[in-house]
Amino acid sequence: MNLKQMVGIEAAKYVEDGMIVGLGTGSTAKFMVDEIGRRVKKEGLSIVGVTTSKETEKQALALGIPLKSIDEVPYVDLTIDGADEISADFQGIKGGGAALLFEKIVATYSKKCIWIVDKSKMVDDLGAFPLPVEVVPYGSRQLVHLFEEKG
Ligand code: A5P
Repeated sequence: MNLKQMVGIEAAKYVEDGMIVGLGTGSTAKFMVDEIGRRVKKEGLSIVGVTTSKETEKQALALGIPLKSIDEVPYVDLTIDGADEISADFQGIKGGGAALLFEKIVATYSKKCIWIVDKSKMVDDLGAFPLPVEVVPYGSRQLVHLFEEKG
């Protein structure tokens, strides 16, 4: 078992019966979603998942995890997601898997968030991983100008 799988399985232990759970995106979160799917099937765990990408939605549906959109739930109890870099003081960069906008929306309405990372993500200072910025088409040209101006 590799580290990503270990943290994915460990994080799924925080999911309790009746919870609305934000399901993150990426190769680490995939293991957590697999484990929740296993618990739904084998333990009769009853949850509602709110996915952060089409990819995770597809995986969760295949595992038989009941899903709702973020607009159909009052809040999310717990979101579990991966990250790209974590500093010694526990700040982080995430979104490298191009799901940042949905991840941020789901995290915003979550009572608790857990980021799951293996040791390869731990850094002294943030910044080696490029900071992802996800935009909606409207206004995106303005944002590109702003980035060009600021260098
Ligand atoms: C998705 O947009 C990201 O936030 C991922 O959670 C992050 O990039 C970590 O991905 P891995 O678990 O694949 O490294």
